[in-house]
Amino acid sequence: MKKVGFLTSGGDCQGLNAALRGIAKSLHTHMGSNIEIFGIQDGYRGLMEGLCHRMSMDDFSGILTLGGTILGTSRQPFKQIRADKENQVNRMKSNYQKWGLDCLVILGGNGTHKTANLLQEAGLHVITLPKTIDNDLWGTDMSFGFQSAVENAAYVIDCIHTTATSHSRVFIVEIMGHKVGWLTLYSGIAGGADVILLPEIPYNIDRVADSLRKRTRQGKRFSILAVAEGAISTDEAGLSKKQFKVERAKMTYPSISYRLANEIEELTGQETRVTVPGHFQRGGSPCPYDRILATRFGAAAAELVLQEKYGYMVSLKNNLITHVPLKDVAGKLKSVPKDCELIKTALDTDISFGV
Ligand code: F6P
Repeated sequence: MKKVGFLTSGGDCQGLNAALRGIAKSLHTHMGSNIEIFGIQDGYRGLMEGLCHRMSMDDFSGILTLGGTILGTSRQPFKQIRADKENQVNRMKSNYQKWGLDCLVILGGNGTHKTANLLQEAGLHVITLPKTIDNDLWGTDMSFGFQSAVENAAYVIDCIHTTATSHSRVFIVEIMGHKVGWLTLYSGIAGGADVILLPEIPYNIDRVADSLRKRTRQGKRFSILAVAEGAISTDEAGLSKKQFKVERAKMTYPSISYRLANEIEELTGQETRVTVPGHFQRGGSPCPYDRILATRFGAAAAELVLQEKYGYMVSLKNNLITHVPLKDVAGKLKSVPKDCELIKTALDTDISFGV
């Protein structure tokens, strides 16, 4: 008999339920009634507060295409957990022991992996799955949720295209991603954006304006910018982390896109509008790619449980499923390399990064 706890943590994304179903079905196929699954509610908060219920295979039925997570989730900032490690990690450990779990299967992004590693260091058996619309987890080429979010974000840009054409305006579509720009880069290219601004490539507002003026000279009646919520200007890139925070705190705009819109109007005289799709990007049904990836990750995680091979994150490398040590993943970010093939493709097809 094996007792396994399932937990989803951090921001939700498409494919979480597909992954839970994949793990449960695979465990059940191989172990039948010798497996007991416990659903821990609302991420690490549930593990701390003892919110857990026994799950049956029926719970995993009909959820392949369902967005969100049937377990609920929460954000428990790693910094806070680490600062109060003695108390918080001990509480999680004592519930794990009280429930008699053999291991925890944790689905999450960057912060989640840092905490998962803390739990592993504290002696818990942990296996993780990479989920995030940001695709910024080190150690995997792809996380589930990303491709679905690309579809949603590109859909927004597609819709904006028709109204932008009609009104001869500049449109900014703000795409999620505070630290990394994969989602903006992919959806920007997929949606035919003219300018793409990423956190990894600080923009110069004059160069952005130049590229918009160039389009006007070419007879283009509108322009679309895909802007990551974490995009920064070259001036801001020169600031220390502390100075940057101070400067941004002074900003009266609700987000970077509104500041940009104002600057673009001043520099080019072109009417500019902002669209912020926000959490729409994380919502709805997972696309078929994510359903398949989440199911593959789920089956691979189940295999690790069966082999009692703990301390790993399942991952995708060169389109093959593998696993990487959790300690190597924790705390590392997979940013967009400035010299990657996709940036080159964008530049080759006349997309401006504002540099
Ligand atoms: O990490 C996923 C993500 O959607 C980011 O792209 C975004 O910056 C952030 O979460 C938003 O967080 P929250 O849902 O807590 O507002």
